[in-house]
Amino acid sequence: MTSLKAHYEKPAELYEGLRLHQNEHTLGCSPRVIEALARLRPDEISFYPPYTAVTEVCARYLGVSPDRVALVNGLDEGIMAVAIAYLRPAAGSPLVPEAIVPEPAFEIFRFDTAVAGGRVVPVMPQPDFRFAEEEVLAAITPQTRVVFLTNPNNPTGVPVPLDAIRTIARRVPRDAVVFVDEAYAEFAGRSFIPELPSFPNVIVGRTFSKAYGLAALRIGALVGAPEALDPARYAVPVYSVNIAAVVAVQAALADVEYLHEYLRQVKESKALLYAACQRLGLTYWPSDANFVLVRIGDRVGEVIDGARARGVYLRDRSAEPGCEGCLRIGTGIVEHTRRGIGVIEEILCGGR
Ligand SMILES: Cc1ncc(COP(=O)(O)O)c(C=O)c1O
Repeated sequence: MTSLKAHYEKPAELYEGLRLHQNEHTLGCSPRVIEALARLRPDEISFYPPYTAVTEVCARYLGVSPDRVALVNGLDEGIMAVAIAYLRPAAGSPLVPEAIVPEPAFEIFRFDTAVAGGRVVPVMPQPDFRFAEEEVLAAITPQTRVVFLTNPNNPTGVPVPLDAIRTIARRVPRDAVVFVDEAYAEFAGRSFIPELPSFPNVIVGRTFSKAYGLAALRIGALVGAPEALDPARYAVPVYSVNIAAVVAVQAALADVEYLHEYLRQVKESKALLYAACQRLGLTYWPSDANFVLVRIGDRVGEVIDGARARGVYLRDRSAEPGCEGCLRIGTGIVEHTRRGIGVIEEILCGGR
């Protein structure tokens, strides 16, 4: 079985080449964001940031009322807040709160669970990465406090059926929440947010790092009913979202055309990559996100190292459960995807 690391190792700081390894917007954010940042006044930087207006803008974008939104310093912070709120053992209790994590998963879930003092209950993947609904339901115990889902999933790009989320939310213990990480929801065009009024024990996580290209500014949101959301909200430092992120997210959300053009390119990029995989005889999983998981096989290390030597960074996912021989490649800007495909093709076919 694949061994799981106990702590998160950040990918190496690679900024010289083409970054297809962290699911980022490789062209950069909307120019309107840069203009908004340039307009910041000195006093806006010297005062603690105001959140009312930006929370209203984000709530409108997400289709909920502002009391259902907690802005966070990147969704990573939101996930840690959920872990701290729900996975801390109660003082004096011998019971260890459990987090169910269907694998392969965004690694942060298991690390944050460990930091909070909880126990990870991994659910091993189906061979085709179809969502393991029955297995997740079977993993629920009276100690379950969080079920971590990502829709569409990272690193596979495979969707979680909304009906599975409904079923799981109905079955978890009364004190538990289902956390639905929707970091890639803009690419999928599907969200659990409209269902939240019927599921007060579900918290949805969103980020502006991916489709909106604000990863370095660090801003995301937790969305849910106040009774589920507030314990996590209280675990977030008071002024954790800075003023640059506050103005940037409003400018980014206003530039709808920029988003649409990126979504169009992501779609075209995925079609190009699928065609390349078919040409090369590589297994891939059709993705609802801005990246694709590809099974290279025994030569995965050679491809990743060879691509890096050619200035293209790809993400090795071969140590994740079910992902033997796999890498993940960002499929955003078409020109960048073509370059990624080019180097993979060159490495795999060049030597034959
Ligand atoms: C599934 C998932 N959730 C959360 C995040 C982190 O988002 P943020 O940049 O907002 O912290 C990522 C980033 O890669 C992700 O893939």
